[in-house]
Amino acid sequence: MKKLQAPRGTLDVLPQDARRRLKVIATADEVLSRAGYEPMETPVFEDTEVFARGVGESTDIVQKEMFTFEDKAGRSLTLRPEATAGICRAYIEHGMHKLAQPVKVWYAGPFFRHEAPQAGRFRQFTQIDAEAIGSDDPSLDAELILLLDEILELAGTGPRRLRLSSLGSRDTRAEYLEELKRFLRAREDELSEEVRARIDQNPLRAFDADHPGTQAVMKEAPLLLDRLAADDAEHFAAVRALLDMAGLEHELDPTLVRGLDYYTRTVFEFESDRLGAQAALGGGGRYDGLIEELGGPPTPGVGFAAGIERILLAAGDVTPERQPTVFIAMAKPDSGRLAFQLAGLLRREGFRTEMEQAGRSMKGQLKQADRVGAYATVILGDTIEVKDMSSGEQQEASSPADVPSLLRSVHEREASAT
Ligand code: HAM
Repeated sequence: MKKLQAPRGTLDVLPQDARRRLKVIATADEVLSRAGYEPMETPVFEDTEVFARGVGESTDIVQKEMFTFEDKAGRSLTLRPEATAGICRAYIEHGMHKLAQPVKVWYAGPFFRHEAPQAGRFRQFTQIDAEAIGSDDPSLDAELILLLDEILELAGTGPRRLRLSSLGSRDTRAEYLEELKRFLRAREDELSEEVRARIDQNPLRAFDADHPGTQAVMKEAPLLLDRLAADDAEHFAAVRALLDMAGLEHELDPTLVRGLDYYTRTVFEFESDRLGAQAALGGGGRYDGLIEELGGPPTPGVGFAAGIERILLAAGDVTPERQPTVFIAMAKPDSGRLAFQLAGLLRREGFRTEMEQAGRSMKGQLKQADRVGAYATVILGDTIEVKDMSSGEQQEASSPADVPSLLRSVHEREASAT
């Protein structure tokens, strides 16, 4: 029969990697909980409109990358490409504006984008996402950036760059885009073919061009950061001052564009040189108009998301720490029931315990004990023996109930020896 494979752009996460993922999520939980962020979950699929209105009709995500399908009643549903729109939908649906503000939540789970798969880019990927909804205080922007930095640091991603900018309000941005289009049209002859063709759809792309002529033109281009309204500029200065105070270096990058339409004011992205073309470990920003866009009361919000696959890629291969383990071996074939019972007893006492379950010879069982990294093996025969796997010493237990204390002393000896 033909072997079946996982769909293109998806990943099977095998046990060793799955363990590393859980650790990253546990780290995020620890860091975010300390700052008052509570876990929250929303469905993996939503009405398509949540993303069409939330992420924005004109974005690549909505135009090209959504996994959209119809349910049996003909409603259009979409596998979530990101978390923020769904969380804001839930905030409105559950009247969370009546709670003390800001509402701080975080989330880890799978997301789906129909992109061309490449290193660090998948069609199903996992994000850690955090949001603070209901206040426009600049300390929240700075707090989220610092929390993400801490998670990335603890997850071992190594050096990273923080790119930071402010997009101001939607009106400021719309006026600025018109100004930029006028500027580009006036110097059309010096631009690359590609940039020229996209002046109307995406003038900001000109900032990323490799073409030398375009690059020369863009050195003189107007910058959105210079066009911010006074209150937006003040907000941005406050965010930057807090980051400076916390000692987090950032690059001011007026050309930072994010792939989602809902952003206002602060935007940021952490990048790593260890990642190649898909360099973003995580990013986010403020979305003060999103809740209103989704039918709620005017409510500011700010948040970030980071991709677990990219975090692990940047962290590189790390050998997982061995957990202290006990192995139960059987010298006699009729010890199976006792082995099973003793494994249960030891596990309830908190020992990580494995037992022989594949009919190996005694030699094979001791080899298996080594493979699972056992510091001690309990050998069931005419007697119950506890074998210290590093010294080879054996001690007899007077009964199964005596085993835990013997194991504790082997473990303590081991721990003091290392
Ligand atoms: P985003 O920049 O689209 O933001 O995604 C955040 C992170 O998710 C990226 O930096 C990357 O690490 C990871 N990621 C995105 N797409 C892929 C993919 N195809 N394969 C692997 N990893 C990927 C957002 O999603 C916003 N919702 C962030 C946010 C939260 N803004 C405010 N609140």
